[in-house]
Amino acid sequence: MKSRSLLNYLRLRPVSTIRRACCYFLLAVLLVPVLGAKSLGPTTPKPMSRLESQSFQRREKGPVLFRHQSHEAARIACTACHHDYVNGRNVWRQGQPVAACAECHQVRPQAGMLDLKNAFHRQCKGCHLKTRQQGRRAGPSRCEECHRS
Ligand code: HEC
Ligand code: HEC
Ligand code: HEC
Ligand code: HEC
Repeated sequence: MKSRSLLNYLRLRPVSTIRRACCYFLLAVLLVPVLGAKSLGPTTPKPMSRLESQSFQRREKGPVLFRHQSHEAARIACTACHHDYVNGRNVWRQGQPVAACAECHQVRPQAGMLDLKNAFHRQCKGCHLKTRQQGRRAGPSRCEECHRS
């Protein structure tokens, strides 16, 4: 009798442990997208972004209005603007959370890294100028066309 219940105990123990481990695993898998998306940032763009980073403490120029829609309509890939470099390779993919440019590009220049103002100008103006040179429809490149005050 005694040895039988011990046998049962040994037989049941691993199963319930595995079951419990499975439950925790499932719970973790289910929570990852919920917690991940909340802590890292949004995954879908706003209809209109008012670019006015708080990182610039004394502003010289007014905010810049940016529409994802007009860029999507021009068939520009999300990865033309969004990146997360690992060993020099962009590993960011559409559907993943987006961090603000200012989370990585600082106002003060740092070694090997564009400062925030030049990161924006290189990306925004850089593409607009290049597109215009190619004789295609392009976005603005004069200060007051982007900075609305
Ligand atoms: C032409 C450049 C550009 C393209 C293309 C682009 N984005 Fe963005 N996106 C931005 C900028 C600039 C911001 C604002 C970043 C900041 O606040 O520092 C932004 C912000 C976001 C945000 C944060 C929420 C918001 O709207 O501020 C999400 C999510 C996002 N983009 C997703 C996407 C996805 C998905 C695509 C492709 C369908 C895409 N973006 C294409 C430039 C771009
Ligand atoms: C997760 C951190 C991170 C975020 C967020 C980020 N960058 Fe970068 N960015 C980098 C790093 C790191 C490099 C340098 C890559 C290299 O030179 O190997 C870089 C390079 C660049 C470059 C140089 C050319 C290129 O595309 O590689 C531009 C322009 C730029 N970033 C603009 C932006 C803008 C604008 C935003 C917001 C829409 C942004 N970055 C968001 C980390 C980031
Ligand atoms: C990879 C190329 C590319 C990049 C990067 C890019 N743009 Fe553009 N942008 C375009 C093109 C192409 C158009 C013209 C769309 C049209 O008129 O059909 C445009 C149009 C615009 C317009 C006028 C239409 C509108 O939505 O009001 C504004 C403003 C603008 N871009 C701002 C920005 C800003 C700010 C950034 C950087 C955060 C940026 N763009 C980055 C290619 C780009
Ligand atoms: C294609 C759009 C575009 C054009 C053209 C442009 N900028 Fe910007 N600029 C931006 C964006 C986007 C930012 C970042 C805005 C933010 O988050 O505050 C920025 C930031 C700045 C900043 C830092 C923030 C501040 O106000 O102190 C300065 C200074 C600036 N721009 C000056 C200029 C000047 C001068 C010109 C003309 C020679 C110019 N920009 C043309 C898009 C543009």
